[in-house]
Amino acid sequence: MENALTVLVIGAGMYVCGRGTDGFGTVLPALYQAKKQGLVGRVVIAATSPESIKVLKAKVKKLNLIFKDELSISYLPDRKKRDPEAYKKAFDLGINFDCAIISVPDKQHAAVTSYLLRKKLHCLVVKPLAPTLKEVKQLIELQLASQVYGAVEFHKRYDRSNLKLKDVIREGKIGDPLYFLVEYSQRKSIPLEKFKHWVNQTNIFQYLGIHYVDIIYFATGARPIRVMAIGQKNYLKSKGVDNYDSIQCVVEWRLPNGKEFSSTLLTNWIDPEKNSAMSDQKIKIIGTRGSYEADQKDRGITMVTDDDGIEVPNPDFSSFYGQSGTEDFSFQGYGYQSIRRFLADVVAVKEGTIMPAALEGRRPTFSASIVPTAVIEAANKSLARGGKWLNVKT
Ligand SMILES: NC(=O)c1ccc[n+]([C@@H]2O[C@H](COP(=O)([O-])OP(=O)(O)OC[C@H]3O[C@@H](n4cnc5c(N)ncnc54)[C@H](O)[C@@H]3O)[C@@H](O)[C@H]2O)c1
Repeated sequence: MENALTVLVIGAGMYVCGRGTDGFGTVLPALYQAKKQGLVGRVVIAATSPESIKVLKAKVKKLNLIFKDELSISYLPDRKKRDPEAYKKAFDLGINFDCAIISVPDKQHAAVTSYLLRKKLHCLVVKPLAPTLKEVKQLIELQLASQVYGAVEFHKRYDRSNLKLKDVIREGKIGDPLYFLVEYSQRKSIPLEKFKHWVNQTNIFQYLGIHYVDIIYFATGARPIRVMAIGQKNYLKSKGVDNYDSIQCVVEWRLPNGKEFSSTLLTNWIDPEKNSAMSDQKIKIIGTRGSYEADQKDRGITMVTDDDGIEVPNPDFSSFYGQSGTEDFSFQGYGYQSIRRFLADVVAVKEGTIMPAALEGRRPTFSASIVPTAVIEAANKSLARGGKWLNVKT
């Protein structure tokens, strides 16, 4: 296809290919689906170890069958040795990349993305863009200097349940926001198994809480004023993981009109494995003239089977629909939308029909990540200081 993009993917874990799960993650199926739409041509995936490539190839084999189509993929490292810098070798392959999707552990986002920005690739980075404001500001500078587009994969911005929330607030239907309440949790296997290699480089607020910090910013346009966070180390500690089971964070915000509201975000990653969904997520907002409440776990579907017991599937995030091999078959959801949006924007930038600057205020750009990162950084500092309130400047 004429405009099909050549995409470099860094990382081959749970989010890219469903490593450690029965599924296929979000990034890889999204690239297959985007190929069907003519957006993607060639793909190179860089991991760190030959074992990861083995797992990845097994997932690709199954996806080829599911999609009844093959994606043209090359893999790095191509030798039998571990190589954390294999992604740099992608530039020795003689391929002209259009863009990159970066899905590696949080602490490496800044270094990997800086390298790719210097190579002038448009970049989509999974959240958080980086854990510190200093890194986020450096990435924005580099992105501007390289004249490329930089976006963060904040997929909840494409969830209709949150788009409705934004409309309701912006239209003034519930008056002035007074407070938000967010509850977001996942199962114990995330810190204990899935992220066991890098669990000590993050925490549950940085991993999950940031999504809703971004949604509150997206829906209201408010800026954070001050932040406090406390947490408990109990279950994980008993399993030898020195990290918080749960973090509770309060943020005070100021709207562009000067009015203030608060948000309380309650997060944990010690839900039972038998919880009826991987993600338990709810948001509620009280305003001066009404309220808005969304159960984003229970979207009205309950399934009970002999094999898996009770499940409450989320049909809106990332799922296959239709019978494989038929024209109705597709991979859909807000996870897909977020990646598709980035790829379509890169095509538009490449064609010269839009400038990256014109996407500010309309997309989760690098600049739009100043607010969510400022909040997680302040929350991390507050946790370290026993729950002290800290002012935030963005
Ligand atoms: N799992 C999810 O549902 C999800 C959703 C959205 C965003 N994210 C974000 O995606 C990132 C990765 O999460 P994950 O769930 O895939 O974790 P994961 O631990 O399953 O995968 C991370 C992968 O990155 C690889 N990696 C590490 N350093 C690398 C390097 N230098 N070059 C190439 N590959 C490297 C690791 O080998 C591993 O395969 C995190 O920042 C996370 O916050 C995850």
